[in-house]
Amino acid sequence: MSGVYEASAEFVARAHVDAAAYEKMYAASVADPEAFWREEGQRIDWIKSYTKVKDTSFEFGKVSIKWFEDGTLNVSANCIDRHMSRRANQTAIIWEPDDPKTPARHITYAELLEETSRMANVLKSLGVEKGDRVVIYLPMIPEAAYAMLACARIGAIHSIVFAGFSPDALANRINDSKAKVVITADHAPRGGKKTPLKANTDAALLHCDDHVKCLVVKHTGDQTTWIEGRDIDLKQQMAWAKPYCPYTEMGAEDPLFILYTSGSTGKPKGVVHTSGGYLVYAAMTHQITFDYHDGDVFWCTADVGWVTGHSYIIYGPLANGATTVMFEGVPTFPDAGRFWEVCAKHKVTQFYTAPTAIRSLMGLGTEWVEKHDLSSLRLLGSVGEPINPEAWNWYNTHVGKGRCPIVDTFWQTETGGHLITPLPGAIPQKPGSATKPFFGVKPVVLDPSNAQVQVAVETEGVLCIADSWPGQMRTLWGDHQRFEEAYFGQYRGYYFTGDGCRRDADGYYWITGRVDDVINVSGHRMGTAEVESALVAHPKVAESAVVGYPHDIKGQGIYAYVTLMKGVEPTSELRKELEAWVRTEIGPIAKPDLIQWAPGLPKTRSGKIMRRILRKIAENDFGSLGDTSTLADPSVVEELIANRMNRG
Ligand code: WT7
Repeated sequence: MSGVYEASAEFVARAHVDAAAYEKMYAASVADPEAFWREEGQRIDWIKSYTKVKDTSFEFGKVSIKWFEDGTLNVSANCIDRHMSRRANQTAIIWEPDDPKTPARHITYAELLEETSRMANVLKSLGVEKGDRVVIYLPMIPEAAYAMLACARIGAIHSIVFAGFSPDALANRINDSKAKVVITADHAPRGGKKTPLKANTDAALLHCDDHVKCLVVKHTGDQTTWIEGRDIDLKQQMAWAKPYCPYTEMGAEDPLFILYTSGSTGKPKGVVHTSGGYLVYAAMTHQITFDYHDGDVFWCTADVGWVTGHSYIIYGPLANGATTVMFEGVPTFPDAGRFWEVCAKHKVTQFYTAPTAIRSLMGLGTEWVEKHDLSSLRLLGSVGEPINPEAWNWYNTHVGKGRCPIVDTFWQTETGGHLITPLPGAIPQKPGSATKPFFGVKPVVLDPSNAQVQVAVETEGVLCIADSWPGQMRTLWGDHQRFEEAYFGQYRGYYFTGDGCRRDADGYYWITGRVDDVINVSGHRMGTAEVESALVAHPKVAESAVVGYPHDIKGQGIYAYVTLMKGVEPTSELRKELEAWVRTEIGPIAKPDLIQWAPGLPKTRSGKIMRRILRKIAENDFGSLGDTSTLADPSVVEELIANRMNRG
């Protein structure tokens, strides 16, 4: 096969799984999932072992997902305490700060136990109990890891809100989950700039229950407002708290965390993951996909505000007793060599990042990579969106020096861990393909026009999964019905990913992107409806429709069509005002890249906006607009084409 890359014999010899083992184990995992996961479940420590393994139904109206149901465990004990006999003095977390002049920190498992315990004791002193929700709105600092593990330790459910989200987004998440406590910091330094997290939290809490307590990490030491009785200095309380906190026995199906993600309607969805199955799956995928071995240094560049950070900075690596790197900064600060400088400095063995980061660094030249010694690297990973072959080749040649397998991992917030990915010693890679399913995952390709499963090997359609795996989400917080409708309603009997895909003659999967109203901006998921509702909340906006368009660096950019209120002048100041408005309503990641003034939008006679047409115009693809005769007013299309925005 041409364009196929295989791992070296040396890599394969040492790999946890080789080609023969993959075939055998995969077949076993789908033939008898009970037996397969009964054994794999043993990779974590249980307080009371399970007798039941799998109890799952994808039947619409009765969707229910339970794994290891009668087992009990504690996730924090699995990530810390169980390593204490062998690894107390091993580094658990290497913290690399935003500013390279600030020294990095090496936190051992023993220190992690103490800090986590102290924080757990502070939470307990505030009355946080098993099942209570705690919102975490922190920079990428060790306290974020302590906070997650402290919640897990006492059975509280954490809900992390990415530090790039606005006060409104934070308030909505605090309110939706009815959190008792929010943990934040004074400021979040990133790329030499500071985000005022405490001020954002103050603004958010104006819209929340008065009883919500605010724990503040004094990280940069900058001045902030302080509300007596509500705001608490977390580091000071931790210093006073007891250094050990016993862990709580939790049921396998007790929720571990909620993580809000964008869907095709305006309201973000609170994805719920539970304790036992999630941890088994995060640990297993971390070990096998990345071929993690004792002594390796694993670096996932994501933020803990996203699921990638949950599964592959914290839970997977720590459950495996790994050394995991936590990086506060950005790839281009203080210069475009920062990623590679950090790899060299900490002798990183596995490096996991997003195609958007690779594309942005590619444009800045290879000298930034060549400056640093990358000989410690053994494997590279990619996540968040399809990786284009140019970026794959650059990554392979300049970072991996042609000797590191690249794992292109396809998965989602909802899936807890990798679904489709090469296993590096087992599955030859093709640039741009996520290749083959992980153990226990049964992908099916359906024809969207008739919901028929495509039996031919070589085919394309929408990607569904036919059976449950332990890392799967269990429900949407407080809305099981929406969960069923969103994921199991469209293609009965299957979990619908929302992605399109192609399967080639070798049975390799190629993800082609979202088929719903979700766009992927720099590997971050954005609901177009969310941006639209932010825009129409502006007093000068009458209506808006948002679509994605191809963007060289971000993968997709945000293209907003905006109809103004009668009599409002479309000016460049107003365009800036709307951009700033969306930034404050949702956060900087949602800022439209292009805003086109649209005196009218293409609608059917029943008033439904024809997004297909808007997408085509945004993509500069007018040849295939399809049938426009059913539009209430076909002339608006001409108008929109004539005034389309230059993508530059
Ligand atoms: C969506 C999920 C899972 C962590 C990061 C994003 C896209 C993700 C890949 C990949 C092609 C990918 C899909 C998916 N996606 N990884 N390797 N190849 N597409 O998590 O925010 O839940 O987004 O990201 O469209 O549905 P998320």
